[in-house]
Amino acid sequence: MSQIEQFSQEYIDKNTPEKEMLFKSFLDSREPYTSIFKNNPWLAPPNFKKPLSRKKIHYWNTTVGRKHPYWKTKKLPTPTKEIKQIRKDFKRWGYALIEDGMSKDQCEAFIERLLEQAKGEKLAGVNSITPSGQYVHTLINKGEIFRGCIEQDPSHVQAGLLIESFLNETLGEGWICHSFLANGAEKGYYPQVLHLDQSPLSPWITEEAPALVNTLYIPQDVNELNGGTLIIPGSHKNIIKAGSNGEVGKLPPAINLEAKAGTVMLFDGRLLHGTGVNHTDKIRFVAAMSNVKSWMRSQENWIVSVDPKIIDIASPKLLHRMGMQAATYGGTIEGFGMGASGKVNEIHGSTKYFREALDSGKYIRVGELSTKSSKKDLKKNYTLKGAVKEVKKKVKASK
Ligand SMILES: [Fe+2]
Repeated sequence: MSQIEQFSQEYIDKNTPEKEMLFKSFLDSREPYTSIFKNNPWLAPPNFKKPLSRKKIHYWNTTVGRKHPYWKTKKLPTPTKEIKQIRKDFKRWGYALIEDGMSKDQCEAFIERLLEQAKGEKLAGVNSITPSGQYVHTLINKGEIFRGCIEQDPSHVQAGLLIESFLNETLGEGWICHSFLANGAEKGYYPQVLHLDQSPLSPWITEEAPALVNTLYIPQDVNELNGGTLIIPGSHKNIIKAGSNGEVGKLPPAINLEAKAGTVMLFDGRLLHGTGVNHTDKIRFVAAMSNVKSWMRSQENWIVSVDPKIIDIASPKLLHRMGMQAATYGGTIEGFGMGASGKVNEIHGSTKYFREALDSGKYIRVGELSTKSSKKDLKKNYTLKGAVKEVKKKVKASK
């Protein structure tokens, strides 16, 4: 324990009156949600202990845009294949719909694998139950079709090149996959609380552009009956206008997303949305692949969760999407990757070597060393040493 009075907890506490604490009111503001709920009481979450209220006032008791009294006269996004229209819709409404993003066959393969996986997870007792219904996580390990979607491979998602270009444009090249999971909505469950997917950044609002862009794969028809995703079109603009440290005012009503199987929805990380209520007997699945700036912490901890068999066969692009391509400001291992820019297949940023060492139980980390270290410690086969050697070998081979 320190003998210096100013370093004691008691002294620090005594000299930390709340009103003098730096950034306190901003960091504790819980914005934008504080003002969203204050100025829009109809957006209050359901009481999860009671049966779901059917009163019209609640955000979940709504319908699709073309039937909604407020929205039916507005020109909301409709499915399109045109990138120019997609840009317009995304900018104005915070989302855009890619028509036939998946072909009929791709869509069938997607939903078939997903439903089978969901059933298998139930049987194995590893099903994830949420207040909205069953989720299927970490799709990367659960089917080739899902890996193909993460890579935007046109043989698994026919609009792959369009999606990839759009993500490069909106997030900047080098973005990584935040998570890829399927959200089920089931009868008797609850709607999600409407939220922004880039909420972890709150109370900062990135006014100029989103820090997260979501790609929602819709492998079956969705509508107001089976829990089509709830959205408030254009709400990203209300959020942007309020900005960091601002207050969100009155919001327009929510609608259920209406889309045909095969549609891929692109949406801004600042758009208010959430899973809808399923009134039918069949589970409704959509799968969200969200994507973030390359240096951000991903929702799914891929470094641990991706199956070694998949790491083994993964393309450089897939490894990159999993954050296994280090850059100076993200994903370095023991300093390996400093100086790299995070590009796909960049030799001095690839951290696959470390992951393989980990999987084989042979990862040797550099620990405490000194001039007094034993010969044995100094001569250890450190994984870092091996990784650097591997880089040199690959660079030489590429010349
Ligand atoms: Fe979300």
